[in-house]
Amino acid sequence: MLETRILGADAVDEAARLLAGGALVAFPTETVYGLGGDARNGRAVAEIFAAKGRPSFNPLIVHVGNPTAARALAVFSDMALRLAAAFWPGPLTLVLPLADDSPLSPLVSAGLPSVALRVPAHPLARALLERFGGPVAAPSANPSGRVSPTRAEHVQAGLSGRIAAILDGGPCKVGLESTIVGLTGEPTLLRPGGVAAEDIEAVIGRPLALPRAPDADGGTPRPNSPGQLASHYAPAAALRTGAERPRADEVYLAFGESRGTGAATVLNLSPAGDLTEAATNLFHLLREADRLAGPCGAIAVAPIPEAGLGRAINDRLRRAAAPR
Ligand code: TXA
Ligand code: MG
Repeated sequence: MLETRILGADAVDEAARLLAGGALVAFPTETVYGLGGDARNGRAVAEIFAAKGRPSFNPLIVHVGNPTAARALAVFSDMALRLAAAFWPGPLTLVLPLADDSPLSPLVSAGLPSVALRVPAHPLARALLERFGGPVAAPSANPSGRVSPTRAEHVQAGLSGRIAAILDGGPCKVGLESTIVGLTGEPTLLRPGGVAAEDIEAVIGRPLALPRAPDADGGTPRPNSPGQLASHYAPAAALRTGAERPRADEVYLAFGESRGTGAATVLNLSPAGDLTEAATNLFHLLREADRLAGPCGAIAVAPIPEAGLGRAINDRLRRAAAPR
C-alpha cells in the first residue's frame, strides 16, 4: 500500500518528478481528474490499469502540453490540424494513426495502430505536462465502473493507497469527459463529451458519423460506449489460450518458468510470473509472436492467473483467440 500524497498547485515540479520516475499521479483537467502515468513506460501504463482495477485493457487517452508535442506522436490529416487549431487546448480528443517510430507503449492504445490525443486546457494540467516534457496516459481517475472524479477528494476516496500522488487543482469546470472524434477513417463521433458535436461539424464542414453498436431494439446508431469499440487486436496466426504444453510447431507465449516446453520458439510474458510485467509486455509480444509464427502459423499462450491484471490480460487474450 502506497502513501498517496496530496500535492498543491505549487508542487508541479514534484509531480513531474514522480511521473518521470514511473509513478502514477492524478491531476486535474478541465473535464475530469486523470490518472496519469508516463505513456512511454509500459510498466507505468500497466499500473494505471491495475490501480483502476480494470478487467480489460481499454485504450487510453494520451495527454500532451501543446499541439506541437501531439504532432510528433500521430499522423495529422488536414482535418485533424483544423480541429486541433479550433479546439486545443480543450476537451476534444482526436483518434489518429500512430506515427512511425512512436515512443508510446503499445499498451496505451491496447495494441491498436492508432492513438487518442488530447491537449487539456486546465492550467495545472498544462503546467504539469510542460514540466514533465513527455506524453502522459490518463484515463479518468476512478476505480473501474465508478463515476468519474471532478474533485481531488473524489480521487482520494477511490484510489488512495494505490497511486503516488494527487495534484489538487480544485473542482473541474467541465465535469464531463472530452468528446472523442475518430479520424482514422471517416470522421466519427466515438464519444460525446465536453465539445458539442455541432461545433466540430461546423469546423470540418460535414456531419460526424456514428459508429454502429448492437442495439437491442434495432434502433438508430449510437456512439459506442468506451471499451465497446471494435478495437480488438487479433493476430493473423491462430491463437489458443490456457496452453500448459505447446506443440512443437507453435510459438509459445510463456508466463513464469518456461524451460523444457518443447516449442521451437518461446517468448515469455514474464519469466518471474509477475502480472504487471506480463501486461507491460502483452501487446508487444503478441505482435512478435504473430510475426514469428507467420500468417498460417499458430500461437499458444500459457495459462494466466485470473486475478488482478490477469483478468485484463485474459480478457484481451480471449478476444484475440475468438473465432474470426
Ligand atoms: O476527459 C477525458 O477525456 C478524460 C481526461 C482525464 O482527459 N479521460 C478519459 O479517458 O476519459 P478514458 O480512459 O476514461 O477514456 C478513453 C476512451 C476509451 O475507452 C476509448 O473509448 C477511447 O478513449 N480511445 C482511446 N484510444 C482510442 C483508440 N486508439 N481508438 C479508439 N478509441 C480510443
Ligand atoms: Mg473513464
